Amino acid sequence: MTRKMKIAVFASGSGSNFGALAEACEKGELNAEIVLMVTNKPEAFVVERARKANIPIAAVRPKDYETKEAYEEVILAALRESEAEWLILAGYMRLVGQTLLKAYPSKIINIHPSLLPSFPGKDAIGQAMGHGVKVTGVTVHLVDEGMDTGPILAQRAVDVIDGDVEKTAEAIHAVEHELYKDALNKLFC
Ligand code: GAR
Repeated sequence: MTRKMKIAVFASGSGSNFGALAEACEKGELNAEIVLMVTNKPEAFVVERARKANIPIAAVRPKDYETKEAYEEVILAALRESEAEWLILAGYMRLVGQTLLKAYPSKIINIHPSLLPSFPGKDAIGQAMGHGVKVTGVTVHLVDEGMDTGPILAQRAVDVIDGDVEKTAEAIHAVEHELYKDALNKLFC
């Protein structure tokens, strides 16, 4: 096995993907160490999860800065300090700007709850169900300046459970937690 990759996980919400990645690192199922959790929402539940897992937190509010560059410069300083090598977006609901893209070329990965390029952006599961699709899924991709664009690394299909958003979302999250680990292990080997 190669050495463990140092990763920073970016999240804005509940952080179930963050939790799954942290557990996979802990159990040795992911060849990585989470050196920093970055959030734009200091009140998000993911902060609680990171605290419990003893993972350092950078909570940076975009509205405290005049520009996106200034916001990302603060994050970049924390990333450099933590020696993070890869940026792993896990429900980070902001577009990544040039400051981070230039500092981490081809080293920023995202997970999205649809079979991209269908249903990018917010509420992908609701969008898919609204269109009445029977199969949706999960995509892991490299991040570029677009919204859920960038080269696709891995995808897995998930059947829609007719009329049941909650159960469909549950099935999608379960697949996310497995697929992210598998896709990252392939990248890190
Ligand atoms: C996940 O479903 C993730 O794929 C999605 O946000 C959710 C976060 O859940 N990301 C996007 O929609 C990115 N456009 P979590 O906070 O429980 O990990």
